[in-house]
Amino acid sequence: MEKELANIRKEYLKGSISVDTMPENPLEALQTWVNQAIESEVEEPTAMNIATISSDKFPNSRVVLLKEINSEGLVFFTNYKSQKGQDIATNPNVAINFFWPELERQVRIHCVASKVSDLDSDTYFYSRPKTSQVGAIVSAQSAEIGKDEDLESKITEIIESNLEIKRPEYWGGYILVPEYFEFWHGRASRIHDRVAYSKTTGAWIKKRLSP
Ligand SMILES: Cc1cc2nc3c(=O)[nH]c(=O)nc-3n(C[C@H](O)[C@H](O)[C@H](O)COP(=O)(O)O)c2cc1C
Repeated sequence: MEKELANIRKEYLKGSISVDTMPENPLEALQTWVNQAIESEVEEPTAMNIATISSDKFPNSRVVLLKEINSEGLVFFTNYKSQKGQDIATNPNVAINFFWPELERQVRIHCVASKVSDLDSDTYFYSRPKTSQVGAIVSAQSAEIGKDEDLESKITEIIESNLEIKRPEYWGGYILVPEYFEFWHGRASRIHDRVAYSKTTGAWIKKRLSP
């Protein structure tokens, strides 16, 4: 049944931000917004969209889970041979988008991606449940797979074999070092608040953007 998409709209009334009161360090601001999303018990508070650029210059985007924010940037984990891994290998520039509808907030970030150390990938890999560790081993993420291939049975087989489980060298983390941020807070009458941060000679400069 056809829905009247054109008539779906809402007023954003949950808060505001201003260029004067946003923190000087955008990574701190991001950490605060992620914390508030977690405290608000929104679904998937750490889910972020990451857009990459393929070797034929086509954008690709998908959701991944943020696993750490540190003084350098944002960390997530994946298969380095996946489509996103191949894209990052040819072009490390990525765009991140967080959207927390319940908080009426969005964050856009431009970053440069690089692999984290083997030690950091090991630490996270071995902290995961055993089924997830083996899941990473049996999945050639993003490659075509036979329609009858039974990955669940492979996982059970490997776990029951009691073989030592090792992090594959093709699975690990990326650190996304930010160069630009935009924090968006929905406001009434579409006069939304937008605060952008760009880096000039090492220091973050804040600007207000028109809605
Ligand atoms: C809520 C959610 C969380 C996800 N988290 C991850 C993740 O942390 N790492 C990952 O590799 N894929 C994650 N995925 C799957 C990706 O969206 C994507 O399907 C997969 O990484 C393959 O993408 P690619 O072929 O573009 O590389 C997640 C998907 C959803 C919907």
